[in-house]
Amino acid sequence: MEKILEAVGKEISQAFVDAGYDAGLGRVTWSNRPDLCELQCNGAMAGAKMYKKAPMMIANDVLEGIKNCKAVKDVEIAPPGFLNMNFDPDFLADYLRQMAESDRFGLETDEKKKIIVDYGGPNVAKPLHVGHLRSAVIGQCVKNLCRYMGHETIGDIHLGDWGLQMGLVITEIKERQPDLIYFDESYEGEYPSESPVTVAELEEIYPTASGKSKEDEDYKAKAMEATFKLQSGVRGYRALWKHILAVSVADLKRNYDDLSVDFELWKGESDVHDIIPGMVQYMKDGGYAYISEGALVVDVKEDTDTKEMPPCMILKSDGASLYNTTDLATIMDRMKNYAPDRMIYLTDKRQNLYFEQVFRCAKKTKLIGEDTRLDHIGFGTVNGTDGHAFKTREGGVMRLENLIKEINDKMYEKMSDGRDMSEEEARKTSKQIALAAIKYGDLSNQPSKDYIFDIDKFTSFEGDTGPYILYTIVRIKSILAKYAETGRDVSKAVITSPDTKQQKNLMLEITKFSTMMETAYEELAPNRICAFIYDLANSFNGFYHETKIMTEEDEAKQAGYIALLSLCKNILETGIEVLGFTAPDKM
Ligand code: ARG
Repeated sequence: MEKILEAVGKEISQAFVDAGYDAGLGRVTWSNRPDLCELQCNGAMAGAKMYKKAPMMIANDVLEGIKNCKAVKDVEIAPPGFLNMNFDPDFLADYLRQMAESDRFGLETDEKKKIIVDYGGPNVAKPLHVGHLRSAVIGQCVKNLCRYMGHETIGDIHLGDWGLQMGLVITEIKERQPDLIYFDESYEGEYPSESPVTVAELEEIYPTASGKSKEDEDYKAKAMEATFKLQSGVRGYRALWKHILAVSVADLKRNYDDLSVDFELWKGESDVHDIIPGMVQYMKDGGYAYISEGALVVDVKEDTDTKEMPPCMILKSDGASLYNTTDLATIMDRMKNYAPDRMIYLTDKRQNLYFEQVFRCAKKTKLIGEDTRLDHIGFGTVNGTDGHAFKTREGGVMRLENLIKEINDKMYEKMSDGRDMSEEEARKTSKQIALAAIKYGDLSNQPSKDYIFDIDKFTSFEGDTGPYILYTIVRIKSILAKYAETGRDVSKAVITSPDTKQQKNLMLEITKFSTMMETAYEELAPNRICAFIYDLANSFNGFYHETKIMTEEDEAKQAGYIALLSLCKNILETGIEVLGFTAPDKM
């Protein structure tokens, strides 16, 4: 469907042409003085130079023509030549009726692309903490957004499941249970199907091992040896590692489930281990990689660089691979198996330079095609109300699980007064609202900015919050339900021309949907969606407070309100679905 400003602009352009001017001058924009008018056209000013004429004269020349346009009314000239106007109410109603009947509310999509979104990125054997929140929440939203825009989108968790961290865990398990069959290298039989460690044990084992290795050289050497054995395929080590992986992944799934975050691919760094030698050879053969101070590197500096751009290291001087190496091999693997047009990565912005190097290296070494797009969204830190990195009350790292529980409880408490639902329903609903509070609280910020995780603010039913949006949706749902209870069909109601300012405002807000979605996708900016649904919710509430909907006696008028509300609700629900949460029926 044509964007509303384009539809209006077309008519205005014709008026310019009819008066002997260039069509391009007829471009219209939303007014930057909404107190004066809804729309403006600055073409008379733009044309002044072109035609060596005073803007007022040009404006006067096109005035009559614009007055005859069907899309606008109340056209006025304001010095030095602005053309101010309002939407014609019938035109607006017609536009909204079309939106209501179109797929995706008239949003048109580009050529279908294949996109991989790499987000989550947790490390095996370490619990999720508050630092993992953003990658999961923003990543899920970006994935939903790409999908909504019509692209084939695959989410990959890219687990940190390889390298020294695994060697450390194995070493600590060996210290504690040296007689485990996995450490008997002469053993050739089957290994037990039961894991020798639980997830609770793992959570304690990793920090212990990591602490020991920092103090004890001997211990560190053992961990490196264990890593080497694991990576070179020693059977027992691989079998033990598989247990650690399975136990950890089951726990991660539960945590991500609680956040309504999911992944199509549960791949990890380990999955590309075997293709690294081939990739290294390819980079050497192509003349891309060379030895510098013992290490194998690829230069990624460009002439236009103003900041320092160190070479991308492929292998350390001892031949070991690095984080870079696995990421490059993963790119190679993805190109081979999925041939994506685009890959989008979500990590902390401290990895900005890192991804710049990796992307340049992938491009230079032709691991990707000419047109393959690589993007990195580097996000800011989650801070506490004291302005420092979010911590528990005791000052420790906040586990994601505990944070979610705290907000669930808080929401439940808030709901307990005067609710008319069962205990079970109240628990379920409070979880749903809590999720909206957490996700909206995060997503309403520009990703690259740090933000303050303010539990009181996020869980408030008023202001720019998730609960406020849900509350608005629930309010609309209840009006629609009441209407349906009178035996009438909401889906048969037809949008009518607005007769109040508030109704028109709400309609205008709705027309901005597709432009907003395109911008959100182009910028990969969930905050655009939040800003839009917040404005839309406000416009609805403005309308709701000024309008007697259920007591309106004119049936057609009432049906017009209902149809408008229904469209508004569908758009709000689409918005929150892309953000990654849903609304209850009551709250
Ligand atoms: N596991 C990594 C970390 O903890 C994040 C992985 C991000 N994705 C990637 N392809 N590098 O920093």
